[in-house]
Amino acid sequence: MSSAQRFSGKTALVTGAAGNIGLAVAKRLAQEGAQLVLLDLDGEKLEKSKGEIAALGVKVETAVCDVTNYGSVEAAVAKAEDTLGAIGLLFNNAGYQGAFAPIHEYPVDDFERVVQIDLVGAFHVLRAVSRRMVKQKFGRIVNTASMAGLQGPPNMGAYGSSKFGVVGLTQIASKDLAPYNIRVNGIAPALMGPGFMWDRQVELQAKTGTQYFSADPEEVKKQMIGSVPMRRLGDIEEIPGTVAFLLSDDSSYIIGVTLPISGGIL
Ligand SMILES: NC(=O)c1ccc[n+]([C@@H]2O[C@H](COP(=O)([O-])OP(=O)(O)OC[C@H]3O[C@@H](n4cnc5c(N)ncnc54)[C@H](O)[C@@H]3O)[C@@H](O)[C@H]2O)c1
Repeated sequence: MSSAQRFSGKTALVTGAAGNIGLAVAKRLAQEGAQLVLLDLDGEKLEKSKGEIAALGVKVETAVCDVTNYGSVEAAVAKAEDTLGAIGLLFNNAGYQGAFAPIHEYPVDDFERVVQIDLVGAFHVLRAVSRRMVKQKFGRIVNTASMAGLQGPPNMGAYGSSKFGVVGLTQIASKDLAPYNIRVNGIAPALMGPGFMWDRQVELQAKTGTQYFSADPEEVKKQMIGSVPMRRLGDIEEIPGTVAFLLSDDSSYIIGVTLPISGGIL
């Protein structure tokens, strides 16, 4: 089978599909033959994503859904299954970066919100989709963590802790679901740019006034790139191939790993 057809006949569900990484991965899965179910909180941007996927000539459905609410997730997944059939592939990717502040100053409400979206939300989607995959005895799942969930950068207490949780969820779910022919893995991107999340991170780290980063965002950019052995930012387009690999039979004996996509960041 050529790699262009790896997902023909499969339905893939992508969360955070109105966002940069979700859309880029959805496009790749469509190009490799999957039909797509796109979920996101942002209905307007979701429709834009739908148009881009439909233009690739595959079936695509959308559902506006809040991953923090299990009922909302369950309803969206049930609707997806009704319209496009059994979901074989899941890219569990919705996320929110939250505030930048040291732990003793971190806003409590933001901490709770980030954990709800990034960890509890990831669990909700994993649960709603995997319970269906268990019945069909087939599933391929990739969760989006972050290098912040493998290394714990300063000032990112809520995000980093949540993404450490996603790495753990990936390891545990891979064992719980292996008996049902469901493979679960993850990705840990870092320093993807240029773009919204990179700019936001640089500006907010500069504002924290902590010893780790300069107060000048231009300097922070240099500090961050200086910590990458490959000495450059990553590009969003460097993500879909890795996700497609983990969702395909090319990774048939790999479970429970979270692959860094990070230029080897120190
Ligand atoms: N861009 C990076 O540099 C980077 C690095 C590491 C990890 N990540 C992770 O990658 C994933 C995608 O990030 P991105 O860069 O595409 O960001 P993005 O902001 O473009 O996309 C995130 C999407 O998640 C959606 N979302 C947020 N809260 C939601 C909720 N409660 N319910 C449903 N959808 C919700 C947003 O509407 C948005 O469309 C996130 O999990 C993020 O933490 C990104």
